[in-house]
Amino acid sequence: MTTAPRLPLSDGRTIPQLGLGVWQVPADEVADVVLTALEAGYRHVDTARGYDNEAGVGEALRRMDLPRDEVFVTSKCPNQDQGYDAARRSFDATMQDLGLDELDLYLVHWPCPGKGLTADTWRAFVELQQEGRIRSIGVSNFREEDLDRVEQATGVTPVLNQIELHPYFCQAELRDLHARRGIVTESWSPLGQGGGELTDPVIDRIAAAHGASTAQVALAWNLALGNVVIPKSVTPERIRQNLEALDLELTEAEVQAITALDRGEDGRRGKRPDAFEGHQGS
Ligand code: A2P
Repeated sequence: MTTAPRLPLSDGRTIPQLGLGVWQVPADEVADVVLTALEAGYRHVDTARGYDNEAGVGEALRRMDLPRDEVFVTSKCPNQDQGYDAARRSFDATMQDLGLDELDLYLVHWPCPGKGLTADTWRAFVELQQEGRIRSIGVSNFREEDLDRVEQATGVTPVLNQIELHPYFCQAELRDLHARRGIVTESWSPLGQGGGELTDPVIDRIAAAHGASTAQVALAWNLALGNVVIPKSVTPERIRQNLEALDLELTEAEVQAITALDRGEDGRRGKRPDAFEGHQGS
């Protein structure tokens, strides 16, 4: 069975390099989907309060009943719960739904610069970690100025920034910044939400050369850059196939050919971090 290697985080902990993302997995399906992934060998699940499916993730964890330290669980504080008190209450609700005592990784879901609550939210995160309720604390969709804001408020740097990142949207600048600051890059929508990358001729040619699927090549590229990836699928065969991307090694030339597919801002598929402050939705 393929198992993901673990990457070091700056707080001394580690994170499995590949996990299952469950954005847009319906609440009544998520338990079976997560169970399929855990049975296939996944040991990392990425959810969020805003996906409205944490209870189902918790149900799958209970049904699988792995030793607690063998599975890595991430959730995120939603935009409407930013602020010191609201974030703490939201975290309690997340833990209630997941049925866990300690969370592996908790992320601020979006920076919401217009709300002006990011620093207060981050203070709650720092305290919850000190209280032993969260193992690692990080952020999602943060730009350089957002990272600066939370660091300046608390002196604590997020261990990880989860950002949209796939072959058409390579995020070279943020990846460089993360590398300089010791922040792990985690890629959401690593398959471009099942879009153009999966039929791209360059990726298709590389896939054919390896006897792999285009999805596996897109994931192997992301892994070769040193990022954590959290592909989403509800399809058992794809869930298994995506984990096996860990066994696919691309040449340096192949990695560069895929990086050259970058379309800059035109490649973005999700919301813009400077503007989005709404409900994430499932
Ligand atoms: P489904 O969930 O129906 O299997 P991303 O993680 O980039 O957001 O991409 C998720 C999308 O990609 C979903 O539509 C998912 O479909 C699809 N997908 C996931 N894995 C694969 C795969 N191995 N091959 C093709 N499509 C995939």
